[in-house]
Amino acid sequence: MVRMQCAYENKVECDLSGSGVPSLSLADLADGAEAVRFVSEASQNYPPSGGSSELRAAIASLYQNASSDHIHVTNGATEANFLGAWRILEEGDEIVVMVPGYMQTRNLARSWGLKITPLPLREDTGWQFDPEDLKTMVNKKTKAIQVCNPNNPTGAVMADEQRTVLVDCAKDSGAWILSDEVYIGAELERDRTKSLWGDYERTLVTNGLCKAYGLPGLRIGWLVGMPEILQEITSYHDYLTLTHAMPCDHLARLVLEPERRERIIARNQAVIREGHRNLKEWASSHDPKFSFSSPEAGPMCFINHSPVADSFEFAKRLLKEKSVLVVPGCQMGMDGYVRIGTSVKEDLLNFGLSRLDELLNSFEDELSE
Ligand SMILES: Cc1ncc(COP(=O)(O)O)c(C=O)c1O
Repeated sequence: MVRMQCAYENKVECDLSGSGVPSLSLADLADGAEAVRFVSEASQNYPPSGGSSELRAAIASLYQNASSDHIHVTNGATEANFLGAWRILEEGDEIVVMVPGYMQTRNLARSWGLKITPLPLREDTGWQFDPEDLKTMVNKKTKAIQVCNPNNPTGAVMADEQRTVLVDCAKDSGAWILSDEVYIGAELERDRTKSLWGDYERTLVTNGLCKAYGLPGLRIGWLVGMPEILQEITSYHDYLTLTHAMPCDHLARLVLEPERRERIIARNQAVIREGHRNLKEWASSHDPKFSFSSPEAGPMCFINHSPVADSFEFAKRLLKEKSVLVVPGCQMGMDGYVRIGTSVKEDLLNFGLSRLDELLNSFEDELSE
């Protein structure tokens, strides 16, 4: 997915492949001069591995029953996911993975020789998984259950019943829960999603500043876990990048000051809401060929284009014939759909949606010939 985005995002007329909001600048973060002073006066030594005590304390304050010892800072959520998976998963293990989802852990597990059991999310139940599915999938051999909540690409938030069953299944089997929560704070109308941290000790939560905070370029992510496992992960981190960058540690502390943090999140939620409003307006005034379920969080939408083609073929033709870049559902574990980013300029979104409809018409014409 990422390779396809990097290859084409600057070459197409319309890039709808993103899953974030337009990013903030340093000047947006604070008074520009304050941000520059903050960074220019900071020591540029290595930050402590796992983050400065100030940053870890600021992150810990976001979670119930967490102290700085429960936090380990990384280079983005990508590194947090990698470190968690690297420490927990071994060749021959079994893992249950929510699909569709962000495929990093699933694909690492595949390359490390694990047995992967996909846990399907179902559009007809608001993109929830069926609790009975999970109960039949998890057993004593299950090493981990990986979830993305709120989910990328569907934007669904796990319902209470599913959450209870997830924790119960993990507890009964001794499996780890690996919970990617980068979209917490990117909710549209509902309350903030509750982290899975705190219900069960064998949980590793990952998060970062990339989505709800709109600051992917700071490359700040983190793990939340029990201190013993984080100490072990610190040694794994030594073999990867040692630590994150000092200027980013300082800027992340600034971002997470409570008032500023809430201001940033509110700004981004407004941007996300506007994108979804534009999508709905376009859809209601154009009788679109495609269908979608309204997400609860995140600047994206998972659009159903089936059954005209498989999602890769569909996205490839959209790219080549219509100069629109989207993410094919197969790259997120589910065919028949494409993911579009909604937090782009209204004109661009409308342009991309019209082109999507045009392509669906072409497919239908070809099929009827
Ligand atoms: C669910 C999810 N997790 C992790 C990441 C990567 O986060 P970061 O940019 O902080 O490495 C992404 C990026 O799109 C994501 O969607």
